[in-house]
Amino acid sequence: MKRLLIDTDTAGDDVTSLLFGLLWPGVQLDAIFTVMGNVPLELCTRNALTALDHAGRSGEVPVFAGCDRPLMRPPIHSDFVHGKDGMGNSFFVPPRGKAEPLHAAQALVRFVNAAPGEYEIVAHGPLTNLAVAYMLDPSIVHKIKKLWIMGGACHFQGNITPAAEYNVYADPEAARMVFRAGFPIVMVGWEICCRYGIVGGEDLAALQAIDTPLARFYHQINSAALKFNRELGGLDGISHPDSQTTAICINPAILQKSGRYFVEVECQSNQMRGYTAVDTRFHPEPNEFWQGGEPNAEVVHEVDYHGFYRMLSALLKGDFSEYSPA
Ligand code: BDR
Ligand code: CA
Repeated sequence: MKRLLIDTDTAGDDVTSLLFGLLWPGVQLDAIFTVMGNVPLELCTRNALTALDHAGRSGEVPVFAGCDRPLMRPPIHSDFVHGKDGMGNSFFVPPRGKAEPLHAAQALVRFVNAAPGEYEIVAHGPLTNLAVAYMLDPSIVHKIKKLWIMGGACHFQGNITPAAEYNVYADPEAARMVFRAGFPIVMVGWEICCRYGIVGGEDLAALQAIDTPLARFYHQINSAALKFNRELGGLDGISHPDSQTTAICINPAILQKSGRYFVEVECQSNQMRGYTAVDTRFHPEPNEFWQGGEPNAEVVHEVDYHGFYRMLSALLKGDFSEYSPA
């Protein structure tokens, strides 16, 4: 069993990521942590609970609400991408479950300390909860197997500004702290989604032909983002930054190329806020111009799109026969 914790600003593709965690064979998702981001915290938590309902797992996995604002800045949301409710303007009925009383950052520290060396964490919202958990107990960095971060971009334009990807832009101080803390980070940047995580054309038509409740739920929650992508995002299909990160975590066979580098987050300038400088230079020694450091992240470069697409299709069909041990 792969033991997993997911930290999410639940809207659109965050939900598909939760469905992978909740339904994939051989994966045990022990907790969901919510953080403000795409939508305000209360909605993120509600959407995570709605995902549990639609996965048929209501009441089985605890949801902990976390930080309702970035460390040092006012919150920014992206409901213009995912719809007012973050779920494609679906306005689902209230979920059956409720969030746990403990703060997500405290819960994260407890889970990790209760099973040192056991967990992989996937974080695909602003990194505020992770930064607060680190401040509560810095020893957690040595007690998790991997921290998968959907965030930043490696030599690629951002999506919220030319310089920055949304999750890092939303709370750059938290992201900088997390990248500097010593976590065993795997970074999946925005370019990975643009190159290997857009499902459009015939592939999207084939997903639309899957007639299961889960597939219908998937199309509904991604409808606003699909429209945004086509009209304003320059992307012809549904984007899967978060769910692809979780898919790589639970099935590393689809990860084709990565490298270890020092990654720094820009926090001072306005125009470059949230830029992730990934030092892929041939000879990345610190010098008088650049005080870099030892590699602090494994940065993903290439993913098997078809492998990811097959996983998505299996998830929506509920047919995991290709993946189950014989
Ligand atoms: C990221 O920002 C959010 O809008 C998505 O959920 C994803 O985590 C992409 O930049
Ligand atoms: Ca997200």
